[in-house]
Amino acid sequence: MKSVQGNKAGLKPFELMLDQKKISQRVMQLGERISSDYTGESLVLVGVLKGCIVFMADLMRHIKLPVEIEFISAASYRHGIRREDDVVIGGGVAIPLKRRHVLVVEGIVDTGRTASVIVEKIRKMEPASVEVVTLLDKPASHRAKIDIKYKGFTIGNEFVIGFGLDNAQLYRNLPFIGKMIEG
Ligand code: IMP
Ligand code: MG
Repeated sequence: MKSVQGNKAGLKPFELMLDQKKISQRVMQLGERISSDYTGESLVLVGVLKGCIVFMADLMRHIKLPVEIEFISAASYRHGIRREDDVVIGGGVAIPLKRRHVLVVEGIVDTGRTASVIVEKIRKMEPASVEVVTLLDKPASHRAKIDIKYKGFTIGNEFVIGFGLDNAQLYRNLPFIGKMIEG
């Protein structure tokens, strides 16, 4: 079956969820919207590693504005009986963000904790504005209050891979979004 892949490469099976054409059309629309919303301004894109990389590389080429790019790394750890999440942010932001328009670029927003911690951190740097763009959003999983101005696709609680997103560090190189098959 063409839509079920993975076995030959020793990967767990997955099925196609969003194909390359659908993603590229949507990324182009997002780039056009961002270009028009920030007309006359310059923008600093702050990508959240590692999941942002494919989306950010595509999105930035559709933004017709002077753009600078920066990256921040984020890891979330679950610990303790209450399963509280700690989001640990790594990597400094070398570009001064004071009075700049900042757009945080995420591959996926799940609980929203990563994005909300990063937005708070950036707000302390007194930017002119800070907004979030994500390729995928799982609104039913949000646990933190987070406003996402630009989103590519809204999905359910399923675990997805590809287009930069991983399962145990694999699958990031798939040029489409797939969904892991349980079992
Ligand atoms: P948060 O829960 O919004 O803080 O997201 C934490 C991180 O979990 C994301 O940046 C992704 O790296 C990862 N993540 C959440 N859901 C998925 C998924 O469906 N596929 C791959 N990674 C995911
Ligand atoms: Mg991951």
